[in-house]
Amino acid sequence: MAKNFLLIKVLLLIKLLNAHFTDDWTFAKITVLTSEINYSETNKLYQNVRTKNQFECFKLCFKSNECEFLEYNENNCSFYDSLAKNNKTLNGNFWYKVAYNCFGEKIDAKNKILNSFNPTVINLNFQNICYIKPFILRNFTFLIYLLIRNNILSFLQANTFIGMDNLACLDLSNNKIDTIKSGAFNGLSKLIFLGLQSNRLKYLSTKSLSGLTLLRSLDLSNNMIEYLEKNTFDDLISLRYLTLSSNRFNYLDAEIFLKIPELIHLNLGVNNLKSMDLKFLKKLDDLYLNNNQLTNFTTNLTSIKYLYLNGNPLGYLNYSFFESNGMIPSLNFLNIHNCQLESIDKNAFIKYKNLANLIIGKNNFKTLDYKIFDEMNTTLRSVSVDRNASYITNITLLYPWIRFNLMA
Ligand SMILES: *[C@@H]1O[C@H](CO)[C@@H](O)[C@H](O)[C@H]1NC(C)=O
Ligand SMILES: *[C@@H]1O[C@H](CO)[C@@H](O)[C@H](O)[C@H]1NC(C)=O
Ligand SMILES: *[C@@H]1O[C@H](CO)[C@@H](O)[C@H](O)[C@H]1NC(C)=O
Ligand SMILES: *[C@@H]1O[C@H](CO)[C@@H](O)[C@H](O)[C@H]1NC(C)=O
Ligand SMILES: *[C@@H]1O[C@H](CO)[C@@H](O)[C@H](O)[C@H]1NC(C)=O
Ligand SMILES: *[C@@H]1O[C@H](CO)[C@@H](O)[C@H](O)[C@H]1NC(C)=O
Ligand SMILES: *[C@@H]1O[C@H](CO)[C@@H](O)[C@H](O)[C@H]1NC(C)=O
Ligand SMILES: *[C@@H]1O[C@H](CO)[C@@H](O)[C@H](O)[C@H]1NC(C)=O
Ligand SMILES: *[C@@H]1O[C@H](CO)[C@@H](O)[C@H](O)[C@H]1NC(C)=O
Ligand SMILES: *[C@@H]1O[C@H](CO)[C@@H](O)[C@H](O)[C@H]1NC(C)=O
Repeated sequence: MAKNFLLIKVLLLIKLLNAHFTDDWTFAKITVLTSEINYSETNKLYQNVRTKNQFECFKLCFKSNECEFLEYNENNCSFYDSLAKNNKTLNGNFWYKVAYNCFGEKIDAKNKILNSFNPTVINLNFQNICYIKPFILRNFTFLIYLLIRNNILSFLQANTFIGMDNLACLDLSNNKIDTIKSGAFNGLSKLIFLGLQSNRLKYLSTKSLSGLTLLRSLDLSNNMIEYLEKNTFDDLISLRYLTLSSNRFNYLDAEIFLKIPELIHLNLGVNNLKSMDLKFLKKLDDLYLNNNQLTNFTTNLTSIKYLYLNGNPLGYLNYSFFESNGMIPSLNFLNIHNCQLESIDKNAFIKYKNLANLIIGKNNFKTLDYKIFDEMNTTLRSVSVDRNASYITNITLLYPWIRFNLMA
């Protein structure tokens, strides 16, 4: 009986140690899903060093500068500086060293930040933080706001925020984040706001945002993203506000919005889009497509109220932006400033019965059809034109109820 009890205690101890090094995340297990490794050929440094346990094996590798990978199997511990991807190295006994040497503050021990804050808000803005160790925040079950703006974070590992079951707002803007590992936001099942603007993202994996099913607002503006897979936003079923402006998109698949049909605000401004199909966004209110490469734009989303197309090379307008199938577009505000327009066809605006504000300055008009606003006279209140636009004189006389703003 006593002997059995001892055995159980030993097993428990091993289990605790196990927990310790997976918590530590100095090493991560290599699986078929591991994508962050630069595989090449297998190059073994030491073979079958006997260690008491896995933890000791990790420690030895951690201390060695050459050791990048290790293999642990029944007290045999082997070290590698490079590894090929094959059935052997994917067998579950191989681990890779997770580099988190960075110059700055690291949130890697529970003593640091964490004691002095009140239970609902942690403000770590402007603290020179370069690393957050996964699992380290797991006891902040009741935290609601976590603000880590203006730091020097460069990557987020899986499970970085796990345990923060009530977190509603996470601000990671103005860092240097270029990598968000799959599952980085695991556990944030109540997150509502996520700010990732002004980082260095070029890409997000399809699992980078997984689990954020209550997220309402996502800001990815001012990064360097060129491309996103069409299922990147699939988990974000509650999303209402999406900001992708100031990136490098030249194409986005219509289906990237398939699972976020509740979106009401979409900002795609300042990219390189040549076309955009938004057919899945039936509830869209505000659409920013300004400063792209669109030569034409049409949509059947008559829900749109605010439309920004300024800064696109539209060239001419002899069509309606809305294929409305007889429905009256909700369009209330239209900005076609700086669109290289030489003329606007009299019928182009004919469907816009709800338009109140129009911005048409900085185009190449020589003249405008003076009947252009004839069919819209009840709602249109304000039109912004160039200060020196002589062509507008007759029009101002014709429509005395419209306020013509002369833009510099
Ligand atoms: C991957 O390894 C090869 C060979 O060592 C190297 O030339 C290449 O730059 C590495 N790529 C990355 C992304 O680290
Ligand atoms: C551990 O290493 C010894 C000595 O090299 C070897 O005989 C044994 O097969 C190894 N065991 C495992 C499970 O790899
Ligand atoms: C690797 O494993 C897969 C699936 O188990 C198998 O189909 C394949 O033949 C294996 N390759 C080698 C080289 O053993
Ligand atoms: C979380 O709380 C538990 C229980 O109070 C404690 O044992 C553990 O060390 C804490 N972990 C962290 C990362 O603060
Ligand atoms: C609209 O722009 C796209 C992309 O430049 C082009 O392929 C298409 O022919 C244009 N359609 C019209 C009607 O001009
Ligand atoms: C808009 O067009 C898409 C196909 O492009 C169609 O599935 C959808 O029903 C249309 N929506 C409306 C409101 O007409
Ligand atoms: C609009 O103008 C363009 C260029 O002048 C012309 O190719 C096109 O056929 C016109 N479309 C309509 C509907 O009038
Ligand atoms: C608006 O236009 C219609 C027809 O074009 C005209 O009958 C009506 O008097 C106009 N309303 C105003 C306020 O000018
Ligand atoms: C208005 O002024 C701008 C520069 O200030 C000039 O490029 C443009 O041609 C002028 N437009 C007209 C109609 O005179
Ligand atoms: C203003 O309107 C009159 C006729 O109503 C027309 O003769 C004249 O050319 C117009 N001027 C401009 C600048 O469009």
